[in-house]
Amino acid sequence: MSSELSPIDKAKFLAAKRSVAFVENGMRVGLGTGSTAAWMVRCLGDRVREEGLRITAVPTSSQTAALAREMGINVAPLDEVKWLDLTIDGADEFDSDLCLIKGGGGALLQEKIVATASDQMIVIADAAKEVATLGAFALPVEVVPFGWQTTKALIEEALINLDVMGRTTALRQQGEDPFVTDEGNYILDLELNRIGNPRQLSLMLNQIPGVVENGLFIDICDIVIIGHGDGRVELRDINAGTTDEEKIDFMEDGNIFADLAE
Ligand code: 5RP
Repeated sequence: MSSELSPIDKAKFLAAKRSVAFVENGMRVGLGTGSTAAWMVRCLGDRVREEGLRITAVPTSSQTAALAREMGINVAPLDEVKWLDLTIDGADEFDSDLCLIKGGGGALLQEKIVATASDQMIVIADAAKEVATLGAFALPVEVVPFGWQTTKALIEEALINLDVMGRTTALRQQGEDPFVTDEGNYILDLELNRIGNPRQLSLMLNQIPGVVENGLFIDICDIVIIGHGDGRVELRDINAGTTDEEKIDFMEDGNIFADLAE
């Protein structure tokens, strides 16, 4: 069944599969959003069903919450759990410092709150997400709907003085309408091409009235697990300064692929 997955999907699955080995009994775990995170939720669900793994999970979006419940994972709100042992999430881009761009799925606000409230954040990604410099992926910025066009103009003005290569901003659409986040906000996607100073940009964006949060995750991610289509996974730990490589056997996971095919 695994042969029916594209190399990118295999890579995402492998990273997700490896990441759930970090989860231990009794842990409070943040669950990210997106297609890679969805693989992780399925793999975690397998461990709950097959090993009786006991965890409390805090999802970062309504869609992840629905999937986690479907997988039989015990879900609780962040305000009940308060602090987490570990968050596992995908990313749109990561660099060598494990700075990230997130929010391609529109869940950056909950993702940042949950990851920041965690002892450890693990990012799971296919190898194509690694970049030398952030910015090829449009940076998502969550803004309140009130006065969003003014907020957009203020962002464009502020970008003039910053080390970026493009300055085009666009309101994210869902069909004919603006895309609306779980918090009822809009997303502006910033086509910057190259972000010379992510820290400065992040601080600047969050100072603009109307901006709720931006998709730059700086000093939040501890470990990145990179999946490759040929079965290899790389684990990079920014705190330990280590890189390890392993090989994972697809054949062991026939059940998960069969479930998806149904
Ligand atoms: C959602 C996110 C996702 O983690 C990011 O978009 C990566 O998604 P995928 O795993 O589908 O490539 O930040 O807001």
